[in-house]
This record gives sequence, structure tokens and C-alpha cells, in this order.
Amino acid sequence: MIKNEWYAVLSSSELKKNELIGVKRLNMDLVFFRDKNNKVACLFDMCSHRGAALSKGKVLDNCNIQCPFHGLEFNKNGECQFIPANGINNQGDLERYNVKFFKVKERHGIIYIWNGDDEVETDEIPFHNEIDKSFVFSEFKDWWKTHYSRAIENQLDVVHLPFVHHNTIGAGGKTLVNGPKVIVSDKEKTILTSANNEVDNGQERHGPNESEIRSTYLKFKFPNIWMNNITDKIKVLIFFVPVDDENTILYLRFYNKITGIKLVDKFIGFFGKIANFIIERQDKRVVETQRPKASSLKSKENLIEGDKPIIEYRKMRQNLKGYGLK
Ligand code: FES
Ligand SMILES: [Fe+2]
Repeated sequence: MIKNEWYAVLSSSELKKNELIGVKRLNMDLVFFRDKNNKVACLFDMCSHRGAALSKGKVLDNCNIQCPFHGLEFNKNGECQFIPANGINNQGDLERYNVKFFKVKERHGIIYIWNGDDEVETDEIPFHNEIDKSFVFSEFKDWWKTHYSRAIENQLDVVHLPFVHHNTIGAGGKTLVNGPKVIVSDKEKTILTSANNEVDNGQERHGPNESEIRSTYLKFKFPNIWMNNITDKIKVLIFFVPVDDENTILYLRFYNKITGIKLVDKFIGFFGKIANFIIERQDKRVVETQRPKASSLKSKENLIEGDKPIIEYRKMRQNLKGYGLK
């Protein structure tokens, strides 16, 4: 995983008040819930007493959570607040029953957790500023049996379009891949590219330097959020949520402000979502077959010039990765 970053891990709509949800994220079992003020909390989903999953317990009126097994209670910072079996007057040292918690932020309808050291926590939340409140979105999620690096690379891959999507977005047999031009920003931690493909009539192929970023472009922001800028009024956003080394959940959002009337745009979004679902399934079918499950800079793959965005992604990921983690 990338260290010292906010990872998008859930969609806000998945977490209701007074509910606990237990999910695996970044290879950890986590429990999420909301406090009185609707603020999201995230703890390790394992009770410090005898290991039961806290997510099978409940949220109490005071917004602490109660373990389902012997009723230990924890607050949003994982601090043990009560051990029923010891009696009200004999609580003793509760601190040693604390469980680990994660810092959480909720913005843009996305729940993020901080994967890093406390001292360097930032207030900068990875998102794409091209999308503001004037857009509405429709969303679906899908489970891919692959490491999230493969799913991300697929969204930066301009070579696959005429094959994987031969009857949808890649129709027209444009197999010749010009460029692609790639702009990397180390400061922003973004990779920007766009497809410049053509039907192959034997013409000269343009290299990355003779190609341009088109108005329809792809932009990835570390650690896990991608956007396809289709037009000023239509964007597709995906956050790739790592479950473990071999599983990823894609949250795909179709954003639009085509008419500027929210109700009508919502209606349009329904169709946008269906179209994207079909395209996403085409990708999934192939990407799940890639071996090994995780990509790496030192892989033995034989890359071509058209893979430049993927090479840049691998380089930056290598630089940003925490030691010892995939
Ligand atoms: S395992 Fe949680 S209270 Fe015993
Ligand atoms: Fe694709």
C-alpha cells in the first residue's frame, strides 16, 4: 500500500446511522459506524477481550459500540469504556482493553481512512477537482478478483480499447496507438494521459512527444482515485478499494450536469451508469486473468511504447510504497 495517504474505502451511502458494518480493507478487518454527529469512526474489527468481531455487536445510545460476546464497550477512538462482567464499581484499568482505531474523513460522499503515521497526517483528500457540487452522480460497485494495481492500470491502458471494448467504447478498429502522451506530476501525485488511437492504414505512428492530451482525458490520483474527463459536463470516477492482495472493489460513479437540472441529470445518470456497467464488465473479464495478481515495476512483462501510462504508474507507485507492503 501507499504510505501516508488517505485511502477511499467506502461510499458514504453504505454507512447508515446506528449501524455497524464490518469490511475488509487494505488487508485488515475493520468496523465502521457513525457517532451522534454523524461522524464516521473506524476500529479494528476484533475485540480485545477474546477476539470476537465487533461488527456483530451494536451501536449503543451513547454511540459507543458493544461487543456481541461479553458486552465490552468501546468509543470511536477504540478506548474501552466498560466491562459489564466486572461490575460498575470495579472497572479497573480499562486502557489495556483498547482496540486500534483509524483516522477517518468523509468528503465528496466518500469515506477515507488514513494509512500512515499520525505526525504527517494531511488535510488534503485525494479527489478530482474537476468535479464540483454542480454535478450529480449515480454509482455502482463491483468486486474484482485482482490486486488493485491491475485494476488501476487497466483504466490507464489505451491499447486495450479496440480489443476489450470492440463493440462499445473501442468500436471502429482503431488499433494503431499514437503516443500516448503522459504527464506526470510528482507534486500532485497524478498521471494524466489520453487515447490518440487511429485505424491502421500503414501510416506513421506518432510517439508520445508528437501526441497531445485531448479534451477527453484520463487522470489518476494516488493512491486510488481515477477520473475519465469525457466532457466538461460528463465525468466517470472510479475509486479502487483494496480488500487484500487478490481482491479489489471498484466503486464507479457517473457524474453529469448535462441539463443543469438535478432531477433530469439524475435520470440521465441512470443510463450513464448502465452503459458504464457494461464497459466495466468487459474489462473485468480480462483483467482478472492477469498473472501475477499484483503488478510491479520489476515485472517480467514485455511492455510496448503504448504502455507508457502504465510504466509511469508503476514507477510512481514504487516510489510511494511503504516498505515491505505490496
Ligand atoms: S470477546 Fe468481546 S467482550 Fe468478550
Ligand atoms: Fe477498459
